[in-house]
Amino acid sequence: MWLRASPSAVEVCAPAKLNLFLEVLGRRADGFHELVTLMVPIRLHDRLRLTPADDGQIELDCRWAAGERRPRAPDTADAAPGVAQLPADPRQNTVWRALDALRRRAGVDHGVRVQLVKRIPAGAGLAGGSSDAAAALAGANRLWNLNLPAGELQSMAAEVGSDVPFFLAGGAAVCRGRGERIEPLGRLGNWSFVVVSPEAGLSTAAVFRACRPSPAPRPVEPLVAALRSGRTSDAARQLHNALEPAAASLSPWMDRLRDEFRRHDVAAARMSGSGTSWFALCRSARHARHVAGALAGRGLGRVWAVQSGA
Ligand code: C5P
Repeated sequence: MWLRASPSAVEVCAPAKLNLFLEVLGRRADGFHELVTLMVPIRLHDRLRLTPADDGQIELDCRWAAGERRPRAPDTADAAPGVAQLPADPRQNTVWRALDALRRRAGVDHGVRVQLVKRIPAGAGLAGGSSDAAAALAGANRLWNLNLPAGELQSMAAEVGSDVPFFLAGGAAVCRGRGERIEPLGRLGNWSFVVVSPEAGLSTAAVFRACRPSPAPRPVEPLVAALRSGRTSDAARQLHNALEPAAASLSPWMDRLRDEFRRHDVAAARMSGSGTSWFALCRSARHARHVAGALAGRGLGRVWAVQSGA
């Protein structure tokens, strides 16, 4: 995430993420699942522009970037709002909820106008809504000169959503608990991916309800070591997502995307988060562009060649 402040506005760039590793350790009494996940930000961004509003309101103007809005796929019971759809009520938006929480925590009644331009699809396992919320917290903290310490922003972020603290911390990290306990990994070099997001999204809650905690959890450390070594083939062997069977039981797209990637010479392909996006780890940016070009005409939804990095 980067943030640019001028006297009249704050602009924030909110990246998507990929889960290179996700293990489900158990179901908790509070209904959440205990996880170990390794996430990297990728260069696919939403953009927020925050300006002061004199009327004390939180006003959210949310739109898709040109060319990003597509027809909506038919709903299923477990579908998320849909890759192209945004919540009709702005108060359901994670940005609004984050800003409201920030005002209450800081004890201020300032207003703000947020223009949000979205590229990251919703219900897609790329955490666009969580990244937007983190960007709103960081942006408003600056716009309103609140100077809240990082720890306080992090605890507020965790209340808005499990993935929000990851984006506030910035950079690749291993995340534990329900996802809110962050261990930053520092620089891991640039990795190249192809990301495919089908039109139909899935509800995160529905995928977690359908999952079974692993009886023999895989450790994340071998992936961390492989990423540090920079060897694509080593990293490829360690990619893992324990939510894939649950997502595949709810959406036919999961098997389709796995099969599509198998036809290509990629190092490995996995689902991100709770789906429905899949990604392939590629040998280079050029290789990723080549694979993305081959997949773009297959009617799979949106296809991007991207690199890791905030
Ligand atoms: O925290 P977030 O709002 O992203 O979570 C959405 C839903 O996903 C939760 O309500 C919960 O049902 C499920 N979830 C879970 N375990 C996690 C994270 C999310 O069960 N660690």
